[in-house]
Amino acid sequence: MISTWIGLLLLWVVGALANDNLHVAFEWREMDFKYDTSDQRWAAIEKGDFKPANVIPFGLEVYKHRLFVTLPRWRAGVPASLAYLDLNDTSTKMPALKPFPSWEAHNLAEAEPELVSPFRVRADRCGRLWVLDLRISGVLEKTKMYGAPQLLVYDLHNDDLLRRHTIPAEQFKQGSFLANLAIEDGDCENTFAYAADLGSPGLVVYSWKSQESWRVQHHFFHPDPMAGNFSVNGIEFQWDDGLYGLALSKPMETGFSTLYFHPLCSTMEFSVSTSVLRNKTLATSAEIYRDFKVLGSRGPNTQAGAEFLDQETGVLFYALPNLNEVACWRTSQDFTHNAQSRIFRNNDSMIFPSDVKVDQEKRLWVLSNQLPVFIYDELYAGSINFRIHTASVKEAIENTACESRTSPLPDIINKLGDILNTNVILKSTSDASPMSASSLMMATLGLLMSLRLF
Ligand SMILES: *[C@@H]1O[C@H](CO)[C@@H](O)[C@H](O)[C@H]1NC(C)=O
Ligand SMILES: *[C@@H]1O[C@H](CO)[C@@H](O)[C@H](O)[C@H]1NC(C)=O
Ligand SMILES: *[C@@H]1O[C@H](CO)[C@@H](O)[C@H](O)[C@H]1NC(C)=O
Ligand SMILES: *[C@@H]1O[C@H](CO)[C@@H](O)[C@H](O)[C@H]1NC(C)=O
Repeated sequence: MISTWIGLLLLWVVGALANDNLHVAFEWREMDFKYDTSDQRWAAIEKGDFKPANVIPFGLEVYKHRLFVTLPRWRAGVPASLAYLDLNDTSTKMPALKPFPSWEAHNLAEAEPELVSPFRVRADRCGRLWVLDLRISGVLEKTKMYGAPQLLVYDLHNDDLLRRHTIPAEQFKQGSFLANLAIEDGDCENTFAYAADLGSPGLVVYSWKSQESWRVQHHFFHPDPMAGNFSVNGIEFQWDDGLYGLALSKPMETGFSTLYFHPLCSTMEFSVSTSVLRNKTLATSAEIYRDFKVLGSRGPNTQAGAEFLDQETGVLFYALPNLNEVACWRTSQDFTHNAQSRIFRNNDSMIFPSDVKVDQEKRLWVLSNQLPVFIYDELYAGSINFRIHTASVKEAIENTACESRTSPLPDIINKLGDILNTNVILKSTSDASPMSASSLMMATLGLLMSLRLF
C-alpha cells in the first residue's frame, strides 16, 4: 500500500514534466538526388523519372556515418526508393541523397528490380541493413505489383546483398501491406525479423538461421474501429490500419526479448515475448491467445505510429501523429499515464512524425514528413516540408518521466523520511527504539523505490 502511494507521488512529481530538446539536423523543401552529372539529373526530370513533388521520405535509419531514408513509390517519379546522406558531410542542411546500394538496384525497367518500394529499413548491431520491400509502386496512382514482398539484407561493410527472402504466398493475404520492421539481433547468427502487416493484420516472423518465415495471427493486431479518426494540420481523414509500431526490448537472461506493438488505429499498447513468436509450431497454433498482454491505453487522440526502444535506457519512443508529438515511456515502469512524457511537440516542424530511431551513438532521430498533406492535399514546394530532428537520448529525456532517476532520488527519500519520522515518533511513546524502526523503514523504502525505478 505504502509503496503504491510512494510510486504515485513520485510519478505525479515527474509526470507533469516535458521538454522539447530536439533540434533540426536536416530539412528539405523537396528531396533531391546526387546524380553523376547535372545533365543526368535534368534528363531524369525531363523524362519524368524524377518528379521532385512526388518524392517523400518515410523511414529512417542511422548506421555509423550514413543516414538512410526510404522514399516509397506512392506516385510515379521516384528515381530511388532507398537512399542515404553522409553525416560527415555537414556542408548543407538540405543535402542531396545517394541511392542505396546503387542506381541499378532501383531500375524498374529490369524484369526483377532489386528494390521497388521499401517503407522501413533497420541496421542491426551486426552491420547488416534489413530492408522490407513491399514491391508495389504507385500506391496512390497507377498501382503496379512486382511480386510478393521481400526482405533484403545488405552487408553494410561493402553494401553487398547477402540475402533475399520472398514472403511465401500463404503469408501474404488480400490487402496485405507490410510497412514496419523490427530486428532481434541479440545473436548475429540466430537473428529474427518481425514484419508488421497493417492491411490484413498479422505478423510475419523470419529466421535468419533457418531461412524461413511464418505468419502469426492475433486479435490485438487489429485496428480499433473507434480509433480511426485522424486530424493532422487541419486535414481530417479516417484510416483503418492494423499492426504498425514494433519495438524490441533488450534480451532477457533467457535470450528472448519482449516485443511491444500497437495497431496504427488504436490508442492501446500490447506486448508478447519473442519466445512465443520464435517457435514456429507454437506461434502458428491457436494456443497463443493468452501469451499476449494488454499494457493499457495512452488516452484520447493518442493513436501512435512508429515506435523504437532504446535498449540502453529501456525507454520506448513513439510518434503521435494526431498531436504533432513524440513521446516516451520508461518500460521498467507500468504503462500508466504518469510513466510517459512528451519529448517534443511542434505544430509546424513535427507534422506527422513518420519514423523514430536511436543509433549506436545514443542519438535519437525523428523524421517528420507531413504525409497526410502529401496524400490528401499538396505540399507547397516553397516551404520546408521534411525534417530530421535529433538529440542525444540523454538530452531528449531530460526532465521527463523517462529520465533515469539517479540524482533526484535522495531528495525525495529525505522528504518522505521527514513524514515517516513524524509518524514513527508519534506512535513510539511505548516503543523502545524509535530511531531503529524509522531507519529500518527508510531502508525498506529505499529498496522498494530502487526496485520500482531501475
Ligand atoms: C566519418 O566520421 C566517422 C566518425 O563519426 C569516422 O570514423 C569516419 O572515418 C568518417 N568517414 C569519412 C569518410 O570521413
Ligand atoms: C474526428 O476528429 C475531428 C477533429 O478532431 C472532429 O472534429 C470530428 O468530430 C471527429 N469525427 C468523428 C466522427 O468522431
Ligand atoms: C515449440 O512449441 C511446441 C508447442 O508448444 C513445443 O512442443 C516445443 O517444445 C517448442 N519448441 C521449442 C524448441 O521450444
Ligand atoms: C498545437 O496544436 C494543438 C492541437 O491542435 C493545440 O492544442 C496546441 O495549443 C497547439 N500548440 C501551439 C503551441 O500552438
